[in-house]
Amino acid sequence: MNILKFATNEELNEAASGIIVSLVQTNPRAVLGLATGSTPIGIYDSLIEDYRKGRVSFRQVTTFNLDEYVNIPEDHPERYLNFMKRHLFDHVDISPEKAHIPNGNAADLDEECRRYNRLLEDAKQIDLQILGLGHNGHIGFNEPDLSLNSGTHVVKLREQTLQANARFFESIDKVPTQAITMGVGTILKAKMILLVVRGAAKAETVYQALRGPITTNIPASLLQTHPHVVVLLDSEAGRLFDEYDNV
Ligand code: F6R
Repeated sequence: MNILKFATNEELNEAASGIIVSLVQTNPRAVLGLATGSTPIGIYDSLIEDYRKGRVSFRQVTTFNLDEYVNIPEDHPERYLNFMKRHLFDHVDISPEKAHIPNGNAADLDEECRRYNRLLEDAKQIDLQILGLGHNGHIGFNEPDLSLNSGTHVVKLREQTLQANARFFESIDKVPTQAITMGVGTILKAKMILLVVRGAAKAETVYQALRGPITTNIPASLLQTHPHVVVLLDSEAGRLFDEYDNV
């Protein structure tokens, strides 16, 4: 595992987008796993800038988003499909039929999970998976539990996640209580994982996840079993690594 710390958000964003752009330059048909939430926004901004400057094209790239809320109005800005359009898809040359995201409004959610799994299987392997980190250690919406699901599944969001995401909604009771998420098995099958963590509030969680025991109570701790994880931390999120690990 390669843990990198950055003094500024700009440096972190450029490092992350640099890794993604190099991958797509080398392999224009790369399969990217994408995340939503506040963490990747600056990285997407940086990718858009690289695209505008002609450094990269996403025309042949395939993408898979990690998750989507269940039962969220189609036009809601926090619907992850809308989030992705606003923050990335509408600004680059990615082809809409190659940009996949689970449909949390499907009539049959179990069938939708199976459909998403089939698409992932057809794609063989995600070349690079971007991950943010939940305050409770979740990756995708794989919440802490006694056991974790391998494939795409419907999940009930934990109270801590509802509270964390309430900032994007009018009030906490407007946050959808369920989501469809890619499973931990699929995430761990990615060739490379880019875990991005920002802010003091996640310093303890990221430290526990990467240096503590591997446990389903902190789903991100399973990343310790993956052979190629690059962790990008801002100085606040990386605070404990300073004190004990001198990375
Ligand atoms: C988003 C996702 C979540 C977020 C996590 C952190 O697609 O899968 O795991 O990455 O909840 O969210 P932010 O970045 O908003 O702190």
